[in-house]
Amino acid sequence: MKKRVFFFFVLTAVLFPPAPADAQNRILDVPYVPTKFPVVDEMLNMAGVGKNDVLYDLGCGDGRIVIGAAQKYGARGVGIDLDPERIRESEANASSAGVSDRVKFYTGDLFKADIREATVVSLYLLTTINLRLRPRLLRELRPGARVVSHNFAMDNWKPDASSEVDVDGIRHDVYLWVIPVNASGTWSWTIKLKEKTAAVRAELVQKYQYATGTVKIDGAEAAIQDAKVQGDVVRFTFEASVEGKPRTFACEGKLIGHSINGTIRSGVEGETKAWTWKAYRNPTTEKPIDEPLDVT
Ligand SMILES: C[S@@+](CC[C@H](N)C(=O)[O-])C[C@H]1O[C@@H](n2cnc3c(N)ncnc32)[C@H](O)[C@@H]1O
Repeated sequence: MKKRVFFFFVLTAVLFPPAPADAQNRILDVPYVPTKFPVVDEMLNMAGVGKNDVLYDLGCGDGRIVIGAAQKYGARGVGIDLDPERIRESEANASSAGVSDRVKFYTGDLFKADIREATVVSLYLLTTINLRLRPRLLRELRPGARVVSHNFAMDNWKPDASSEVDVDGIRHDVYLWVIPVNASGTWSWTIKLKEKTAAVRAELVQKYQYATGTVKIDGAEAAIQDAKVQGDVVRFTFEASVEGKPRTFACEGKLIGHSINGTIRSGVEGETKAWTWKAYRNPTTEKPIDEPLDVT
């Protein structure tokens, strides 16, 4: 009798293996609703997906966004879903599409996924979930990585681009954000104006991809204008008086670590003069660029 009971348990365990812990213990944060294919196309197009990209779909459903990126653009991709049934579907779909060698799917919780490798992250979740992910997206993705979302935005992190897709009379919104480098803090550089080398100090305050601040050049203070951080590129202008005449200086450079390398341009008597721009930040002055959240 005991032997029979034992055999029954062994057989049950073999035939019905337990689902992974996540799927067993957690209910879905978002129900499964697949993105319509014309919207998938727009998301991939808007993110500018190419063959060097690695796209992560957080809550990948049947894998269609990851598979589309691999099939149409030759990208690599990773899909994560809490529901093992979705992962089985994704794997079968990838195999039918002939892209199994470029994509990977696994059962897991999107909040625990390591996303640092991603150059593109796609989302079709909810605004509350996007907001919980926002600090990680900004901190863990590299500058220039893109985040594309179907229908749900990121509150006061304004998208860099958005578009609408009409499918059977229903409007779908697509949003795109480019991860900005953190350019906040105190920057110093020098610039040779006529015979004199002027010391410049800039204080940059950054929120997401926008910045404000002031520049002190030779003791005179000026406001930073039109500042924008796009991926790892920092741009702004300021006005300063040179030999009693007001001049606008346009700065543009690539930020790596605590250095910016680029060019400063200014119009002088109808001609544009350019200087090499090499600025250094005091590392202790860098501040977070996202706003603290009250969501759990
Ligand atoms: C609205 S569907 C989007 C599916 C797919 N990304 C698409 O656009 O077609 C959301 C997906 O997220 C998955 N999901 C929900 N909560 C999750 C979590 N905490 N971790 C991983 N996946 C989750 C669901 O199983 C579902 O497949």
